[in-house]
Amino acid sequence: KDYTELMRITSPFHITVETLAHLMTTMEKHCQMGLEPNTNSSSDLKMLPTYVTNLPTRKEQGDILALDLGGTNFRTLLVKLHPNNEPQVISEAHIVPDSKKLLANDLFEFIVDVLKQFMIRNQLDLEQEYVLGFTFSFACEQIALNKGKFLTPSKGWVLSDLIGQDVVQVLQRIIYQKQLKVKITALINDTVGTLMACAYHENTCRVGVILGTGTNACYFEDINKIHTISDRAVLPTEATEMIINTEWGALGEGGCLDMLITNFDREIDRISNNPGIHIFEKLISGMYMGRLAAEVLASLINQGIILKTQRDHKQSYRYYGPFHALYMLQTSHISEIELDTGHTFANTRNVLKKLGLDYATNTDCAIISYTCRLISRRAAMLTAAAIAVLMKRLHENKQVAMKKICIGIDGSLYRFHPRFNMVIQRHLKILAPVLLNYELRISADGSGIGAAICAITANDARQALH
Ligand code: BG6
Ligand code: GLC
Repeated sequence: KDYTELMRITSPFHITVETLAHLMTTMEKHCQMGLEPNTNSSSDLKMLPTYVTNLPTRKEQGDILALDLGGTNFRTLLVKLHPNNEPQVISEAHIVPDSKKLLANDLFEFIVDVLKQFMIRNQLDLEQEYVLGFTFSFACEQIALNKGKFLTPSKGWVLSDLIGQDVVQVLQRIIYQKQLKVKITALINDTVGTLMACAYHENTCRVGVILGTGTNACYFEDINKIHTISDRAVLPTEATEMIINTEWGALGEGGCLDMLITNFDREIDRISNNPGIHIFEKLISGMYMGRLAAEVLASLINQGIILKTQRDHKQSYRYYGPFHALYMLQTSHISEIELDTGHTFANTRNVLKKLGLDYATNTDCAIISYTCRLISRRAAMLTAAAIAVLMKRLHENKQVAMKKICIGIDGSLYRFHPRFNMVIQRHLKILAPVLLNYELRISADGSGIGAAICAITANDARQALH
């Protein structure tokens, strides 16, 4: 009976290759619609032009500042680029307090103060002018490389006063108010930073993916197929491609993923601070995976399938011991649980112990580990399908007469989850265009470097004009 119940609760997380193929068809349509004029509103995918039209040349040169904001850490960087040499990077990671995630003014004052301290610590001359690239890991509608309207907060950030504002203008004002001679010449998404940093080392890189707190991807699109570029005059005349920030996390907002959504996913969406928004992201990314597993495990406890010894039918499950402990489950715990091999479940036991659940039986551990695996496997399979859509698009565009493409990836989920990469690779083998070889390449902490590359390129172009 327990087995049947376990299957009933967990089976909606099983997805097949047919479902993935269906998802790909849907996503392809949304990609196409997102690139068309006026139909933008019917596409879940924002498909945002980024005004990045070239790969790095490796001739970039200079000492460039970068800010990398919107992932787990906020980073300040000094990137020293020398032609044909490895970039030298001085980087510091900082935590953004939750209280600074509410209003842009508070947030930007905080990050500029941190930047100033970083410059002082690293003995940069505050009288000298510096160029800065800003990686801002949220959806922004750009009309130039250094102009972008903030569209949608995500990943628990609020920033309601920034919606509709030009992010660069707001940050630049605060930089000048604080007497820094720092000029922002590029605003980029973290996916773009990842792609550019990866491409600096591997010139077949055409896709950038983030699998971290949130998820998203960008890729090089044929410029003639992008009908939403508001100002072509700012583009280099020779531009034939442009990176598109898909904002794939938003897929499903119009209901196209309903066939995949379980009741547990609905609950995750309901309790988030942005219900109805970024549905695909909530099925995949690190911000939600731990809580999603906790919801499923809570249901298993409720049905008397796991942790039976501590179960008390009389109490409401939300306030009851094991449930309370379960809600502390993080995505990093899932990564740890999935490191288990064999039947001793040492890691699973260890995680449960950390949560205060040290009375789990071997069967409990087996079921908990199975459930976590199912949830993260679904996430990795969905990611593979989404990557395959972009590869197909690149292949069909034939803009790249290339046999191989490299996909740059970053983010804590991808980096620390022991099986994510393997599941993605396995499904890409089935879903990606047969004629295209691919390589997934980690581009660790690369967004800031990517921002620096874009910033100095933009600055050089600006100077060439004057
Ligand atoms: C970092 C990138 O390494 O990964 C950031 O430099 C990016 O730009 C981040 O946002 C995403 O991962 P996470 O796990 O920090 O959200
Ligand atoms: C969210 C943001 C997106 C970002 C992603 C990964 O989905 O909307 O811009 O790239 O998180 O950080």
